[in-house]
Amino acid sequence: MHTIMLMNAKGGCGKTTLATNLATWFADDGAKVAIADHDPQGSALDWLEARQDYEGIPEIAAIDAVNGPARTPRGTDYLIIDAPAGIHGKEINTRLRRVDTMIMPVLPSPLDIRACQRYLKELRKNSRIARGQLRVGVVANRVRENTRAFHELEAFLDGLEIPFLGTLRESQNYIRAAETGLGIFELAPSQVYADVVQWDDIIDWLNEK
Ligand SMILES: Nc1ncnc2c1ncn2[C@@H]1O[C@H](COP(=O)(O)OP(=O)(O)OP(=O)(O)O)[C@@H](O)[C@H]1O
Ligand SMILES: [Mg+2]
Repeated sequence: MHTIMLMNAKGGCGKTTLATNLATWFADDGAKVAIADHDPQGSALDWLEARQDYEGIPEIAAIDAVNGPARTPRGTDYLIIDAPAGIHGKEINTRLRRVDTMIMPVLPSPLDIRACQRYLKELRKNSRIARGQLRVGVVANRVRENTRAFHELEAFLDGLEIPFLGTLRESQNYIRAAETGLGIFELAPSQVYADVVQWDDIIDWLNEK
């Protein structure tokens, strides 16, 4: 089983969006996928509930890690963990104990860049990250190309030691998918092409493991 956690100290950067879309990518590819919602807001669980309205789309198991025992269904290939914002200090080590890979979404804003910088420094104190046993990659999210904010984020991410996996556009498709319990990969292909292609490098990096 490959356990992937979406994590960042900042709220609203796209952790749940990346968690739900990653889950559908793997599920649509035939894998057995579960999402563990570790956030008391329960947004990933809401999305999974909306998903129940459809027939003929791959099932994704829901794990309510806040209110119940976080039991992963037997045979799960990918466990995607949606983490809450603001995990700091020793709690980082506890939360990351069984995680293989972490993806950190970052928004193109000076405040988010600085927060990301600080958080990466904090994460390096985790012994598994320091030893390379737990891979960390960053994704620029809600990007509007040709904006100064994005160029600044890109320059920052390019200069990091950890991999910069790719950028995801600011797109209404993510909002539509979030409302309906689907992933962007499950919307009409002609409408989502420009968003879908942006996931290729992220998925390739995840599959390197
Ligand atoms: N690439 C994108 N394009 C457009 N909207 C996006 C994109 N990514 C995320 N959003 C929207 O931004 C908002 C915040 O995203 P999301 O809920 O995924 O962040 P989060 O990090 O999980 O937040 P929280 O810390 O509150 O859990 C949501 O309304 C989501 O639909
Ligand atoms: Mg969230």
